[in-house]
Amino acid sequence: MEKNDRLLTAQAMPSDEEETIRPQTLDEYVGQDVLKENLKIYIQAALQRSESLDHVLLYGPPGLGKTTLAYILANEMHSKVRVTSGPSIGKAGDLASILSVLEPGDVLFIDEIHRVPRMVEEVLYPAMEDFELDIMVGGENGAGGRSVRLDLPPFTLVGATTRAGDLSAPLRDRFGIISKLEYYTHEQLASIIRRTARVLNVTIEEDAVMEIAKRSRGTPRIANRLLRRIRDFAQVLNDGVISKEITETSLERLHVDSLGLDEVDIRYLKGIIERFHGGPVGLEALANSISEETTTLEDVYEPYLIQIGFVNRTSRGRVVTEKAYEHLRITHTGSLF
Ligand SMILES: Nc1ncnc2c1ncn2[C@@H]1O[C@H](COP(=O)(O)OP(=O)(O)O)[C@@H](O)[C@H]1O
Ligand SMILES: [Mg+2]
Repeated sequence: MEKNDRLLTAQAMPSDEEETIRPQTLDEYVGQDVLKENLKIYIQAALQRSESLDHVLLYGPPGLGKTTLAYILANEMHSKVRVTSGPSIGKAGDLASILSVLEPGDVLFIDEIHRVPRMVEEVLYPAMEDFELDIMVGGENGAGGRSVRLDLPPFTLVGATTRAGDLSAPLRDRFGIISKLEYYTHEQLASIIRRTARVLNVTIEEDAVMEIAKRSRGTPRIANRLLRRIRDFAQVLNDGVISKEITETSLERLHVDSLGLDEVDIRYLKGIIERFHGGPVGLEALANSISEETTTLEDVYEPYLIQIGFVNRTSRGRVVTEKAYEHLRITHTGSLF
């Protein structure tokens, strides 16, 4: 399967429709309750003092609502959001030009902030801490020039990352609010699915809502994506009504199993079981044997398999648990072959 065809990768695939279903306010944002309640306080306090909100770092697996929350924060602060990402600010100058156009109270959203190069980070420190920007003027390649300090308006940096561990300590320390997004419960996913169905104006039966919720790997982006695919099947095969039956048929055709595991999850689990006797196996060796990238496995697939207790990460490598054997109906006697 082509990487972008995968239903469950949980990678961002912005489309107009995805934008229309993104919640706009904290009240519409389902789940993450502790974080949400705290943010409400911080926002109200900052607004009362007419200050910008403290810098916020959001981390967690893809599709859990980091980008959405960044937009909501700007919205709730009645300010504008400027969006960039780690990979697109390769040089200190790139960041300087973004910072220099900020207006008071703006939210600067840096996605994949762990990929900001170290040289660029150094520009971020005084910007975050003192709202100051150091730029070099004159000279060639930094030689013979002098550093000029410019004042920046107060702004809020919202950083998002799937790998908080890859962030340098000095950068992490400059965020006042650091929060991990959690996987969503079936109930929370169900209310996201109901809301999306309303926005898309599709009829969905309640048992279909629950079925999709159960198979969405705790991830809103996947829930919405499954809903849209199933809507296609329902439109062509069932007069547009999403019933439990059409949901089951669709998910079978999409190779999404009863727990929401897709073909890559299954290859991952069977790879460990069949080629490495259930583990432990190093990530590199496993990734090679199933032709996947280590970062994809680590950021997208493993967190959920660990969350549902199918995989343990030990110091000696990945190990498949008894629970996974049971789900796959493989008897735990070693290799299948
Ligand atoms: N808490 C939530 N409530 C409702 N919908 C959500 C929530 N979190 C995410 N979504 C939906 O899931 C999609 C993916 O979320 P996004 O913020 O892009 O994830 P991330 O940036 O963490 O990868 C969004 O388009 C949004 O519609
Ligand atoms: Mg995102």
